[in-house]
Amino acid sequence: MKLDKSASRPVRKEFLVFGSPLIEQPEIDEVVASMKTGWLGTGPKVKKFEDMFREYKGVQHAMALNSCTAGLHVSMLAIGLRPGDEVIVPAMTFAATANSVIHAGGTPVFADCDPKTMNISPESIEKKITKNTQAIMPVHFAGRPCEMDAIMHIANKYNLKVIEDCAHAIESEYKGKKTGTFGSLGCFSFYVTKNIVTGEGGMVITNNEEYANAIKVLGLHGMTKDAWKRFGDEGYKHYSIVYAGFKYNMMDIQAAVGIHQLPRVDKYWEKRRQIWERYNKEFADLPVILPAETPSYMKHAYHLYTLLIDIDRTKVTRDQFLDEMTKRKLGVGVHYISLNLHPFYQKMYGCKRGDYLNSEWVSDRTVSLPISAKLTEDDIEDIIAAVKEILA
Ligand SMILES: Cc1ncc(COP(=O)(O)O)c(C=O)c1O
Repeated sequence: MKLDKSASRPVRKEFLVFGSPLIEQPEIDEVVASMKTGWLGTGPKVKKFEDMFREYKGVQHAMALNSCTAGLHVSMLAIGLRPGDEVIVPAMTFAATANSVIHAGGTPVFADCDPKTMNISPESIEKKITKNTQAIMPVHFAGRPCEMDAIMHIANKYNLKVIEDCAHAIESEYKGKKTGTFGSLGCFSFYVTKNIVTGEGGMVITNNEEYANAIKVLGLHGMTKDAWKRFGDEGYKHYSIVYAGFKYNMMDIQAAVGIHQLPRVDKYWEKRRQIWERYNKEFADLPVILPAETPSYMKHAYHLYTLLIDIDRTKVTRDQFLDEMTKRKLGVGVHYISLNLHPFYQKMYGCKRGDYLNSEWVSDRTVSLPISAKLTEDDIEDIIAAVKEILA
């Protein structure tokens, strides 16, 4: 094995891909079975995955789509967003959260985060409300639920809809209630790095039948619902187009993965929880700020393990840290650079540095370490050794 002269531990042979999912034999066999039946598109496995997810979340409706981004977009349309309407979103999020508002014709209005939890701050939300505000889109960042009592209180006070971006938060609960069930709609992601995966994929949940029907129609060309059945064994069915909809449907070969991943959601969660606790213990004395403690009334989904490099206590910058990890063949991530620092939002909405101080403070320091259920003991030891060596 080739030795890195600066390192006390041999450099790995293989690059550890950040967020690489654990894929097991049953989903491989199920995908092959789908290929053999020829039913690759939306079919019975998508329906089964929707039924399983609906049961898992204890809701009335679950609609599978090809991404969480698609889910957020059609959710914005389902609530009837119109040009000029504003939706409050966190600045500390992935672009898809804000872009879904823009694609539906609305305007994203950014709110700052709590620097400890990185979740949207209820105080910041309230300051951003105007006569045009229609909705709030909280993101349960890294899988830690937002302060939903305070957010729902604000939503009720100003008569606003809440659409939860649960891309990180399949397993999360707040005071015993599952994330995605607080507001009108909840949107989930099964992208490759997520807690359970379908490759690309998403799910929208709701207890509102009108929204559920709208999402089914919007997600498949604007065809009247259940149009995917038109080529089934019940014979050809006519459909009507009632909206200029989108091609957002999930395929059976994606659902073939999901129906085997979902029953393992708790097993994978437990594995990540153990890695999380181990990292916390191992990194306690380093010049970093560890993830905020989880209060007992929350269930954290442990989707991202984010360290904040304490740049006041070390000469190593966040970007140097990223480079050093990469040199050691360890994939890392940055979640996120605050949206007000990106050129598009600066150009479109006049955002600039200095607008969202907490989100910027996080942006300058944050780094996400691998925490996938796929990690081996060797992987975990490589990560711990590298972090200590770089920051010691
Ligand atoms: C907070 C957040 N929202 C939305 C998305 C979009 O999810 P998808 O890739 O399934 O469209 C992501 C994806 O990483 C995300 O992190």
